[in-house]
Amino acid sequence: MTDDPATWWDEAYEGDPPWENGRPQPALVDLVEAGALDGRILDAGCGAGTHACYLAARGRSVVGVDVSERAVERARLTARERDLDATFRVGDALDLDPDLGPFDAAFDCGLFHALDPVQRDAYAHSLAGVLPAGGRAYVLSFAERAPADWGPNRVAGADVREAFADGWRVRDLREVRFETNDTDVPGSLAVLRRV
Ligand SMILES: C[S@@+](CC[C@H](N)C(=O)[O-])C[C@H]1O[C@@H](n2cnc3c(N)ncnc32)[C@H](O)[C@@H]1O
Repeated sequence: MTDDPATWWDEAYEGDPPWENGRPQPALVDLVEAGALDGRILDAGCGAGTHACYLAARGRSVVGVDVSERAVERARLTARERDLDATFRVGDALDLDPDLGPFDAAFDCGLFHALDPVQRDAYAHSLAGVLPAGGRAYVLSFAERAPADWGPNRVAGADVREAFADGWRVRDLREVRFETNDTDVPGSLAVLRRV
């Protein structure tokens, strides 16, 4: 075990991490079927590219960013094999290059809830740098009601409101199903709009 987060995440991708099941989260599928997340999309903390590739296969132009080189290699391979409009960068979502943007929307499955709570403001600020006014961020996390004995941080509505207080409006906060390799847990989907 290492203290360096990037190395820790990279080591997780030596095998099959528990969040990686190759299937898009049902909450994302519902959003896409409802016509959301259109245009140029950022997948923040994209991992092995499951969600980025799902979106690209449905006509979106996607950029995935992840701190793990191994995850990004896997994501690139999948996109290449499927001939998808998805590109991937090794990078820190807390310090996104503004030149990566502008995006129409950002999707985050499991990054916000994995961050140390003290990093949340920096993350919201970094996302704001690549999403112009009107852009939306969709943040999918373990909900407060998720079992507390394993996994990442639980995310309450108040956590989202606090982190995205500056430069964002919370459009929606709803409970959804969050699939993991082991079991389904209560998830929280936050929809945020840049102002
Ligand atoms: C729980 S995994 C979710 C991966 C992917 N979104 C999915 O749903 O399969 C969290 C991901 O966030 C990445 N990550 C953690 N901290 C990060 C940071 N500061 N910047 C970019 N990616 C980060 C990890 O490498 C990991 O791939």
